[in-house]
Amino acid sequence: TGPILKLNNGVSMPSLGFGTFANEGSKGETHKAVIAALEAGYRHLDCAWFYQNEGEVGSGMREFLSNNPNVKREDIFITTKVWNHLHEPEDVEWSVKDSLAKLQTPYVDAFLVHWPIATEKNEDHSVKIGSDGKYVIKKSLTENPEPTWRAMESIYNQGLAKSIGVSNWTQKGLEALLQYAKVKPTVNQIEIHPFLPQYDLIKYCQSQDIVPVAYSPLGSQDQVPGTGEKVSTNKDLLAVAEKNGVSLAQVLIAWGLKRGYAVLPKSSNPSRIKSNAGLINLSDEDFAAVNKVAEGRNTRFVNMKDTFGYNVWPEEA
Ligand code: A2P
Repeated sequence: TGPILKLNNGVSMPSLGFGTFANEGSKGETHKAVIAALEAGYRHLDCAWFYQNEGEVGSGMREFLSNNPNVKREDIFITTKVWNHLHEPEDVEWSVKDSLAKLQTPYVDAFLVHWPIATEKNEDHSVKIGSDGKYVIKKSLTENPEPTWRAMESIYNQGLAKSIGVSNWTQKGLEALLQYAKVKPTVNQIEIHPFLPQYDLIKYCQSQDIVPVAYSPLGSQDQVPGTGEKVSTNKDLLAVAEKNGVSLAQVLIAWGLKRGYAVLPKSSNPSRIKSNAGLINLSDEDFAAVNKVAEGRNTRFVNMKDTFGYNVWPEEA
């Protein structure tokens, strides 16, 4: 499970988590992947309403628990998130209850605001898409998410979530949130890997006792345009893996854990799910070698303006 990280409200979170976003493909894939992950020893599952597979996470977890009576629901840290179109206070509550029912659990361990963007919904709680094929931004709730955060706090106070936090938030967004938050966010889940090392945002989060949680720690989202350079084919990173007789994924996971945050590798392949949980310790020399690859990099190649019609990251503004 990796080292246990203490959140600012006293809740414990295993630093190795299993990402379920990859498994939204064929029916039954997530169910099997979740069982494989729990069998491999992961005790932290990262989910989201948006992934449309929480029902399979729930059924996989229940099947594992019934076959392993020594493991209890309380031994597993479950995160889920509210999607952009459900930021109105009553919708936040609807979202967490919908997720809880699918996950077959009375509470989650962390409930996060998935993106700092509020958009319109349809009557049936589906995402509203505008005539331009993009999300329809709700400007005021995006610019001032205080009502959304109040709903998050209410969910926390009702015990439906043991902690509340955010995902994809910038330092500026966190600074504003901390001004009015009565319940502080415990985590900020962001993309982190050697091509996007997030030095400043990690430092800021840690200074505020907010734990960074890394999604895409294997760098699968980043490919340098033009050169096609990827984390997975970087020769300096592969050299560290080869030297240690481990996979590159193991090196990348170890690098994140050594930097002091949580990492969420995802895979739908049972043998990779298992090998990714084979935690290794990176020597100072190897840690430095990975840091050297990361040095001077921090470019994001996926532009949220194209996806959401709204700038999330300051460098895209
Ligand atoms: P697969 O499901 O076939 O294993 P990231 O977490 O950075 O988004 O990366 C996830 C991607 O990395 C998935 O497509 C997953 O594919 C792949 N992946 C996961 N573990 C490994 C591994 N140990 N070696 C190679 N690829 C991996």
